[in-house]
Amino acid sequence: MSITGSRVIHTADYEHLRAIINWKQAGQELGHIEGEPLNIGYVCVDRNVDLGRGEKLALVHEGHGGEIRQFTYRDVMLLTNGWAHFLRGLGVRPLDRVCLFLDRHPELYIGMMSVLKTGAIAEPLFSAFGEEALFARASDSGAMAIITERHHLGKVRKIRDRLPSLQVVIVIDHEEEGRPLREGEVAFRMMDHRRDTFPIARTSPESPSLLHYTSGTTGAPKGAMHVHGSVLAQYLTSKTVLDLQEDDIYWCTADPGWVTGTSYGIIGPWSVGVTQVVVNAGFTSDRWYETIEKHRVTVWYTAPTAIRMLMKDGLDPVRRHDLSSLRHMCSVGEPLNPEAVRWGREAFGLDFHDTFWQTETGAIMVTNLPGMPVKPGSMGRPFPALEAAIVDEKTGVPITEPGKIGLIAIRPPWPSMMRTYWNNSATYYKKFLNGWYICGDRASLDKEGYFWFSGRDDDVINTAGHLVGPFEIESALLEHPAVAESAAIGKPDPMNMEVVKAFVALRPGFTPSEDLELDIMNFVRKRLSPLAMPQEIEFVDRVPKTRSGKILRRVLKAKERGEAIGDTSTMDDD
Ligand code: WT7
Repeated sequence: MSITGSRVIHTADYEHLRAIINWKQAGQELGHIEGEPLNIGYVCVDRNVDLGRGEKLALVHEGHGGEIRQFTYRDVMLLTNGWAHFLRGLGVRPLDRVCLFLDRHPELYIGMMSVLKTGAIAEPLFSAFGEEALFARASDSGAMAIITERHHLGKVRKIRDRLPSLQVVIVIDHEEEGRPLREGEVAFRMMDHRRDTFPIARTSPESPSLLHYTSGTTGAPKGAMHVHGSVLAQYLTSKTVLDLQEDDIYWCTADPGWVTGTSYGIIGPWSVGVTQVVVNAGFTSDRWYETIEKHRVTVWYTAPTAIRMLMKDGLDPVRRHDLSSLRHMCSVGEPLNPEAVRWGREAFGLDFHDTFWQTETGAIMVTNLPGMPVKPGSMGRPFPALEAAIVDEKTGVPITEPGKIGLIAIRPPWPSMMRTYWNNSATYYKKFLNGWYICGDRASLDKEGYFWFSGRDDDVINTAGHLVGPFEIESALLEHPAVAESAAIGKPDPMNMEVVKAFVALRPGFTPSEDLELDIMNFVRKRLSPLAMPQEIEFVDRVPKTRSGKILRRVLKAKERGEAIGDTSTMDDD
């Protein structure tokens, strides 16, 4: 039986849930005793074996070609033990940073738990990152090890000389006959390393667990540091919001390079002890429906861009598959359009339940709980164990007037809140106002306390649910020999919500052309990632800037959207 049950949650029930759902209860249910160690690697792996789930499937994995590999909780326990021993043998110690730079292979999921068992900090990195994106994140964290695969090893090799802290690169699929490994690189075949036991690091709830890099408007990407105690929040929200129960077959479509893919693609489901499906393949409607049908997926967590792509292909592919196993669907990452909710009802006979949160919050903050009447276009209400509000941007005082836009704010602390930005506590402290954590998004409330998203409060670009920082793109553009000045903004896009548009002023001797545009686009794609690649480049004589040289993205955005630019004389020059 789920906490919320199968009934409709009205306002009075919601108030009741606020009274009964709390983080302490999560700790108790997970068997954690205050003052005792807490390690995500134990909670998500060995604990399930201890509770009798040893023979239950933890992971059903489908590779590119459709090949299926299955792992029970006992398999995961033995393999994480083997891997943790190996890491320790290489000199990995508690608090070392270990990057996982892998496609969605079983090794990514099992490897992350192995790193956590050693007490080291796992740093998941999106495998489509190019060398500069990888470098920015691995150098900021001072990573001592990178776990990767042959396909991505070339990118690591290109930047290795610039990473003085990096001691070892672990390659999961090295073949003896293949090109030889270089000094400082070791082969590790996960399946050959099963061990019955490993002395799991006695981490506390406040010990660092994960470092997730996220983009801001200014400066390089920032590493949100999470702790082992975050599992309390991921567990409780997985149970209450995703409604995960013992027999569920759960599918989260997100890559663990992004926070959804770790909080709810590894930690949440395994802390509850359900079977989860992972597909290491690109998107097609048919492949997705086949996944649900073949594995009898019951709970599905995905994103608005994906839902819009499914919508585009219409109802025919839906009808070609037996999707009757589905009982609950959630969405995250960008505003969920009302049309997507309505289409979901028609296609699946179910509501997509929107969930709002961030890398920094580590777990779902505002949501439509199962049973809550879904108002298409609204994100729902605060998770009942939390206090969330819309606050005035200057004073931080909550706004209760319906329809009035302010900033989304959460009252600290909560278990999965980031504890700092790595190497950048100054920026971390700027995220608070009047005792609230400020998410950096704008929204309003309606009369019944539902949140309605209105937009981000900064220049970060949200493309297909992934944040990309304009600064990182602008810096990459400037590396191109033809580029003198650059600016990047999000341009509205019907499918991906936003795509990157770049404005470029050329160096003397270069003239705008389609070839040059393509060359610059590819340059950014290779260095950063396909998501960061501008879909359009506009050549300009100069990029608008303040007197102190700050790029006026607001002016470019307003022009792009056909909006009034406003009073430029009052624009801050800070
Ligand atoms: C930003 C956080 C948290 C997992 C994925 C993204 C936007 C997220 C919603 C939603 C409207 C949303 C916000 C937020 N966002 N969920 N349900 N409705 N916007 O994590 O990369 O840290 O991005 O994504 O702007 O601040 P992230």
